[in-house]
Amino acid sequence: MNDNRMDRLNTAAQVMRSKLPAVPEIALVLGSGLSEAFRTPDGGTRIPWKEIPAFPLPTVAGHAGEFWAGEINGKRVLMQRGRTHFYEGYGMDDVVFSTRLFALLGIKIMIATNASGAINPEFNAGDLVLITDHINMLGENPLRGPNLEQLGPRFPDMSAAYSPRLRAIAIAAAHTEQIALKQGVYLATLGPSYETPAEIGAFRTLGADLVGMSTVPEVIVANHAGIEVLGISCATNLAAGVNPDATLSHAEVIETTRRKGAEMRRLIYAVISQL
Ligand code: HPA
Repeated sequence: MNDNRMDRLNTAAQVMRSKLPAVPEIALVLGSGLSEAFRTPDGGTRIPWKEIPAFPLPTVAGHAGEFWAGEINGKRVLMQRGRTHFYEGYGMDDVVFSTRLFALLGIKIMIATNASGAINPEFNAGDLVLITDHINMLGENPLRGPNLEQLGPRFPDMSAAYSPRLRAIAIAAAHTEQIALKQGVYLATLGPSYETPAEIGAFRTLGADLVGMSTVPEVIVANHAGIEVLGISCATNLAAGVNPDATLSHAEVIETTRRKGAEMRRLIYAVISQL
């Protein structure tokens, strides 16, 4: 197998290093709609993805494509504004390109955010949910293929994929900030069609509280590379069939993330101050 993945990553990492003022400590990945709510703080450095060689560019309207590097609450943060989804047609190596870049840059913590549908009947649209674990229903694993030995082991442990330490910090921060934070298992499905009510019923039986189309590949790759992960989801809508009278739309997802973005930002900034 002609495996040039490390070459691509090293080239991109080299360009990133030349543009970054300092090595970031924390990567913050912003999902659908949240990039807007996280208007970047003043100052810092913007790195559009198109300036990074080999970086896969996204196709979905409304997904920004850039990094922002700067200080948030005294910590050096690399903010990823937008992400590449598997449903767009990319291979897994492209979907997790930025996560591997984080590892090469020496980043030790990744905060992943996303939008999801609420399967758990006790959740409401707009709830912020701490991801405790995941179920991979993408039908693919980003680590399939020759192992990138420089990054991590062939068979990485996933017993604590969402760091218990970071989860405790997030729960404490939510308490201090008086932000309601639920907890649940996130199930990743391929998309891009939303699920049927029958699928949501099946996922509930499997133990899922949330359903979405992202994050899981990045979390697998982060764990492989020894990056500690915190996952926070905005449940933007009730999943299909949870409210039998409702239908789902991307517009609703975007609208809810806009509405809840400021609170999500406040929570994440409070977490960052504790890291
Ligand atoms: N299903 C899948 N992905 C999603 C949903 C959903 O209901 N809401 C936001 N992302």
